[in-house]
Amino acid sequence: MKLESLRTILGNDGIVTDPSLNSAYTVDWTRRYKGYTPAVLLPRTTGQVSQIVKWCYENAIALVPQGGNTGMVGGATPVNGELVLSLKRMTAIEEVDDATGQIVTQAGATLGDVQQAASQLGWKYGVDLSARDSASIGGTIATNAGGSQVLRYGNTREQVLSLEAVSGTGDVIGDLRGLPKDNTGYHLPGLLCGSEGTLAVVTRARLRLVKPPEEELSILLGFRSLNEALEIVEEIRKSLDDVQACEIFFHNGLSLVCERFEIIPPWNEQLAAYLLVDIGGQAGLEERISNSPLSAFFNASHFVAYGNDSQSRKKLWQYRDLHTEAISAAGVPHKLDVSLPHGKLNEFCNNVQEVINAIDDQTQSFLFGHAGDGNIHVNILGPDPEDLEVDIAVLKYVASLGGSISAEHGIGRAKAHHLYLNRTPTEINIFQEIKSIFDPAGILNPGTIFPQQEI
Ligand code: FAD
Ligand code: MLT
Ligand code: ZN
Repeated sequence: MKLESLRTILGNDGIVTDPSLNSAYTVDWTRRYKGYTPAVLLPRTTGQVSQIVKWCYENAIALVPQGGNTGMVGGATPVNGELVLSLKRMTAIEEVDDATGQIVTQAGATLGDVQQAASQLGWKYGVDLSARDSASIGGTIATNAGGSQVLRYGNTREQVLSLEAVSGTGDVIGDLRGLPKDNTGYHLPGLLCGSEGTLAVVTRARLRLVKPPEEELSILLGFRSLNEALEIVEEIRKSLDDVQACEIFFHNGLSLVCERFEIIPPWNEQLAAYLLVDIGGQAGLEERISNSPLSAFFNASHFVAYGNDSQSRKKLWQYRDLHTEAISAAGVPHKLDVSLPHGKLNEFCNNVQEVINAIDDQTQSFLFGHAGDGNIHVNILGPDPEDLEVDIAVLKYVASLGGSISAEHGIGRAKAHHLYLNRTPTEINIFQEIKSIFDPAGILNPGTIFPQQEI
């Protein structure tokens, strides 16, 4: 591959060809997906992204857009030797507009940087996840990331007002006007959210900000049965207007976290399930909670811990947030991010181990996730990275219950062969037609969302 033209576009410091310097870009966060690349391309501007993609289009060379490389489904890994187009150097936060509550940023800025820039001017960005210091805004848009506050603010799609992107021909599309009302044809930001780098490279975005809560409170609850925990999830959703997050985890995950990070568990007793609930709103939270139907439960339970300042809240959140790292430290997990229809979470959590055991009874499974959204992360340790039998059994079980095989991480490469479980052949055809219009040469992230085809 002749890379000289790319060197001319990017300069010597904008292209990394030495494989010993590339490994951070060619292996995914979970270590399940490994690839190789002739070069990592590091543009600084939309103009450079456009020139790179145009060159790839004209030369029929595939590329993989990459932000923070924290994705969980292998969508940012150059498994077939694609070029890596990293947005790592496009990190400028261009504007925080106090009048409209909007922020304009380049796509490579981290979620954490955007949160901080918003907060410095008295605003809040409504998406949060524990990879905030590495995950990029472009990556969160491309995956339509969820996280812990979907219950309150919606997923990433609901935050993106406008965006700028480069299509598979190298054309710059979109705008950054952020008009609150604009029904001029198809909604480009909505379409590109969740497109996983297969339609266009997101280069800049204008995002909606919200007013931060005056008070925040975290409550950790322990339960002797899953059923009891899920009943409280229902009650929380019904009776607490201020709920921001409602997360679930189980005893084996908590033990792994506590062992790995040498943290003292919240209670000595081993409980079946734990909920971590975040409440945020106008001053007077504790009074509103004590007037709610939940207060009887809080007062009666032995397993309630409150965090009402940032340090004590952080302490409670680490039990939940450290699950991902603790599991990956124990092995290379198969990560299945699924959601269940209302009322089916109990059945799923109770039966999924049996579904797994029917294929392989030597695995270790850890469940945790966003209970308030019906979104559970099933993490399975044991099977080889390429062995998909257990994955397929779990995903088929989810589909049979009417759930989604990808709640928030995307389809990526991990589930490209299983999209049919949730989408009809007609829908998949329409998706592929849409891709071929944005990306006529099929150079953008081949093998992601749809199984690999020759380009
Ligand atoms: P990458 O991993 O670099 O890429 C992900 C996908 O987006 C790829 O398909 C890639 O090609 C594409 N892409 C990246 N940038 C662009 C761009 N500029 N234009 C077009 N396509 C692009 N996810 C959740 O939804 N909720 C969570 O709660 C959550 N928690 C996490 C916790 C941890 C500890 C970790 C490691 C990950 C977590 N994730 C979570 C997954 C991950 O952080 C998100 O998927 C995130 O959105 C990925 O951002 P990224 O910049 O790392 O993207
Ligand atoms: C989370 O909710 O912590 C993430 O989606 C990451 C994971 O599934 O491990
Ligand atoms: Zn999650």
